[in-house]
Amino acid sequence: MFPSRVASLKVSGIRKLFEAAPPGAINLGLGEPDIQPPVEMIDALKSALDKGFNKYGPSAGIMELRLAIADNLRRYRKDVSFENVIVTAGATEGMRIACETIIGEGDEALVPNPGFIIYGPDVRLAGGRPVEYSLRLENGYLPDPEQIRSLVTPRTKAIVMNSPSNPTGSVFPRDTMKAICEIADDKSLYILSDEVYNDYVYEGEHWSPARFHDDTIVVNSFSKSLAATGWRIGYVATSKEIVKQLAKVQYYTLACPPTATQYAVLEGMKVQERFMRDVLTEFRMRREIAMKRLSEISSFRTAPVSGAFYLFPEYDHRMPSEDFAQRILERGVICAPGSAFGSLGEGHLRFSYANSRENISRGLDIVKDVAAEL
Ligand SMILES: Cc1ncc(COP(=O)(O)O)c(C=O)c1O
Repeated sequence: MFPSRVASLKVSGIRKLFEAAPPGAINLGLGEPDIQPPVEMIDALKSALDKGFNKYGPSAGIMELRLAIADNLRRYRKDVSFENVIVTAGATEGMRIACETIIGEGDEALVPNPGFIIYGPDVRLAGGRPVEYSLRLENGYLPDPEQIRSLVTPRTKAIVMNSPSNPTGSVFPRDTMKAICEIADDKSLYILSDEVYNDYVYEGEHWSPARFHDDTIVVNSFSKSLAATGWRIGYVATSKEIVKQLAKVQYYTLACPPTATQYAVLEGMKVQERFMRDVLTEFRMRREIAMKRLSEISSFRTAPVSGAFYLFPEYDHRMPSEDFAQRILERGVICAPGSAFGSLGEGHLRFSYANSRENISRGLDIVKDVAAEL
């Protein structure tokens, strides 16, 4: 038998559904930008391979990239240097080694429900216990600081935050972020902040808890910001002491992040601002279309959210979200059942607008028809 920490891991509810999709289905389930990375970055990868960057590199990532990331982060905090940054194989590995590093046997970590699927398993694999806080439609899918305070026990080690949020699309405003940071300060907790969608904010501003709370561990990635999910390059930014520990854990997990793609991301970062400006112009329009179409479905309710590339309507039908998503799939549209993101995701569907305007319109028209038939 396999140990329970492994046997209890579930296969993602999203993947199961995608694998059953009919050919030619419209994919509104995508968790990645539907565009290619900047051409400068692709050229840089080819050149890195030709130059012979095909070998192991440093465990914490190549110095040039750590320096460039630190430079970028000085927008938020002046005291950041390369020693505060470790390059990882995406945010997935970054979150995993961060949990491994700070969570001990029996420690608790607060995680969002609904939330991205990795947090609970990461906490459990580290020997800890995830304790869920709620994100609810009536609250604009924002965390309630009072609830968070009430969930803290002597065993609590960390609060996991994700803004802009997957699956809800909510962006936590300054006041919410500050209130949660004050609780973390008060109770001496780490904040583990997954910021992979920080470049996807359509209204307002991204507020990293690192701006308010020193014991913050920022987990980020170039997967979404440079449309390079397959390249597996991300980073963790935190105190120098924690980075040293993370580098040890990363060595035993991964040896080092991929060398050639790090050199290419370094070039990508030089054009990231321009690239994301164009991406946001397009995604802003797609978001308008998706919100309008969803608002035309009378059994759906959505909060006005302003980040990432997801909408997470709650529906009135008495039907589990997996069955609802399956019905929609049979009509040729892929979406994600809300239950894949936690118990409070039940009764919701997640639609991604990382698809063409035409596909968003066509897809959501089909969803409207399916909802009308129920
Ligand atoms: C909130 C969130 N965190 C982390 C990830 C994983 O990112 P990466 O490709 O950097 O591992 C995703 C991917 O969808 C995500 O939505």
